[in-house]
Amino acid sequence: MSPSSAAAFAPAATNNLDAFWMPFTANRQFKDAPRLLVGAKDMHYTTSDGRQVLDGTAGLWCVNAGHARPKIVEAVQRQVAELDYAPAFQMGHPKAFEFASRLTALAPKGLDHVFFTNSGSESVDTALKIALAYQKVRGEGGRFRLIGRERGYHGVGFGGISVGGIVTNRKAFGPGLPGTDHLRHTYDRERNAYSRGIPEHGAELADDLERLVALHDASTIAAVIVEPVAGSTGVVLPPKGYLERLRALCDKHGLLLIFDEVITGFGRLGAPFAADWFGVTPDIMVTAKGITNGVVPMGAVFVSSAIYEAFMNGPEHVIELFHGYTYSAHPLACAAGLATLDTYAEEGLLTRASETGARFADALHSLKGLPHVIDIRNIGLVGAVELEPIPGQPTKRAFSAFLKAYEKGIMIRTTGDIIAMSPPLIISEAQIDELVGTLADVLRTLD
Ligand SMILES: Cc1ncc(COP(=O)(O)O)c(C=O)c1O
Repeated sequence: MSPSSAAAFAPAATNNLDAFWMPFTANRQFKDAPRLLVGAKDMHYTTSDGRQVLDGTAGLWCVNAGHARPKIVEAVQRQVAELDYAPAFQMGHPKAFEFASRLTALAPKGLDHVFFTNSGSESVDTALKIALAYQKVRGEGGRFRLIGRERGYHGVGFGGISVGGIVTNRKAFGPGLPGTDHLRHTYDRERNAYSRGIPEHGAELADDLERLVALHDASTIAAVIVEPVAGSTGVVLPPKGYLERLRALCDKHGLLLIFDEVITGFGRLGAPFAADWFGVTPDIMVTAKGITNGVVPMGAVFVSSAIYEAFMNGPEHVIELFHGYTYSAHPLACAAGLATLDTYAEEGLLTRASETGARFADALHSLKGLPHVIDIRNIGLVGAVELEPIPGQPTKRAFSAFLKAYEKGIMIRTTGDIIAMSPPLIISEAQIDELVGTLADVLRTLD
């Protein structure tokens, strides 16, 4: 070993936190007081100082079956030894087709084809590109506009931030894609504060699409993309009837409806997908995260047969869609995904949140009246507690709650001054009480 490579492996170097520019992180704060996770099993993380932390967020909304589940671990271990990598361009491997078939069997009726990616952001950009290309192949190439929604989160690619509506994720990165516009968001605290489940008021907000159609003309719009339940913005729920109305308006104007189910997919609400829960089927459904239980990065874009078939034209030796990733349908991801679907099915996890959700809702809403709490929202195993910001210091109060919660042994997430929770779907009733009870203790100590 040369002196320089020896130095690179010295303990001092491995303990140096400086080189890694951490994503969506206050780097300086973290590196002053690191929070390092070194192990995970079922509902808990193990920290580098040997503590157990109850996972209130399923990692980043992805570890739906809990951590280190044996079937998934073994499937990945077997796969890496058997077939570590196979190209998906002009080649295939059996598990890619098996996984696609299993996924389409699980998906809402009509979404019969799957395009594999490696993340939610890639899935979003893939969906937007498919929507544009579909309009072109069916002779409607003038439909180039993409409509998102204020407060929407669709990952961090240029397509995703262009249709997304979280200001901090957009403002530093230039003009984004041309031809995007945004529906109004659906948050209305005045009318819907502390609603349990789906809020009563605001279905008419879907009619905002008529305003954009009047402004741009339907003949220029390719698609509308929304999260059925917006997660990253701090859990904003669609009012009763809103998604149905949006679907009807898209049909009326010939627009594709895309659901971004990166968070809501794979059981989060108490049904396999939000589309099932709401009884509203999109033309394109974007997924990632829970597809492999977070174990291997993967995303999948589901499309209707009408969309897929529209591309299956022209000479048969010619590629129909010039799009894809080196790691699309990666063998390890497919193996992890198949074992994940088995685990979900064997343990009834994709509908479990419809039972545990009631206990979660009761626990969450018991926080009403604690210091600084101004709203509480929930659906399935997703919950949010919104805090009054410290005047002039937005985000600080919730971030301080996050740090205190971690010290007390629970992992929560914050966006702005909103605390969000989305525990693994295996959470027990006692663990729900522990999670929310610890959060209550934290809230009582906040400045
Ligand atoms: C709704 C939604 N879309 C897209 C993404 C982006 O996923 P990824 O971080 O895997 O790129 C996320 C991530 O949280 C998400 O919540």
